[in-house]
Amino acid sequence: MSAKALVTSGASRLRDAGVASPDFDAAELLAFVTGSSRLHLSEPTPVQQVRFEELIARRAAREPLQHLTGTAAFRYRELAVGPGVFVPRPETEVMVGWILDRIAGVQSPLVVDLCTGSGAIAGAIATERPDSTVHAVELSSEAVAYARRNLAGTGAILHEGDIDGCLPELDGTVDAVISNPPYIPLTAWESVTAEVRDHDPALALWSGDDGLDEIKVVAATAARLLKPGGWFACEHADVQGESAPAVFAATGKFTEVRDQLDLAGRHRFATGRRI
Ligand SMILES: C[S@@+](CC[C@H](N)C(=O)[O-])C[C@H]1O[C@@H](n2cnc3c(N)ncnc32)[C@H](O)[C@@H]1O
Repeated sequence: MSAKALVTSGASRLRDAGVASPDFDAAELLAFVTGSSRLHLSEPTPVQQVRFEELIARRAAREPLQHLTGTAAFRYRELAVGPGVFVPRPETEVMVGWILDRIAGVQSPLVVDLCTGSGAIAGAIATERPDSTVHAVELSSEAVAYARRNLAGTGAILHEGDIDGCLPELDGTVDAVISNPPYIPLTAWESVTAEVRDHDPALALWSGDDGLDEIKVVAATAARLLKPGGWFACEHADVQGESAPAVFAATGKFTEVRDQLDLAGRHRFATGRRI
């Protein structure tokens, strides 16, 4: 079969299985097995056709595309991902851009990424601001293994452990704290896609009935680490556009507390400044 015919039949199987972006995913998988690019697909060998069909079957069973290819793009980097680590999302890229804008005028900024997962945020900041010092904190040893690989050569410093009480030696000295913590309300279980529910690690997703448990820890930790005038940015669910900023405001330690939208116009991250 030709590359074009394979993509068409693969996409049709994915569409029937309820995959959200069947044409894109089928073309990505054929590009992966043929070692070409989605826009300039090579014609597959018979062995590659078999491999492609296997991957289409796994994608139709709702394994995430990024787990099948082992990579995820995040800002200007390609990251290693797979079972055991959260797949970084495009909406988080917007938050990284926001914090980079805030520290644009700060010389050699000190930045902390809480709940780093694959190291996506820490790696982006460390490479886009090569004069920065970036610390990344992550509790899951499986995620830490991916972060170690993704942060190699970036200069970011990885710490395995709980964000609660982390890095006391940096108290009151940090220019920016950024976090994409677990925040999905347990009550939203039904609305989460199979890819997320069955393949992203539970520790990366859930955080109490209202999803705010870990955001409260991020707020306390940011208040402790930031220097006066330092900025925080913390991602949250679209239904937390009021409740997440309120967590930060309630500490009494921040000013200019606001909520920011993602590219789809949904409430996506809370921001503010240490008093
Ligand atoms: C939603 S994922 C985000 C990962 C990454 N920052 C990103 O944007 O792709 C949340 C991460 O927080 C980690 N985590 C959850 N609770 C934690 C805690 N108390 N201390 C440190 N990391 C934690 C999870 O293991 C997971 O890797």
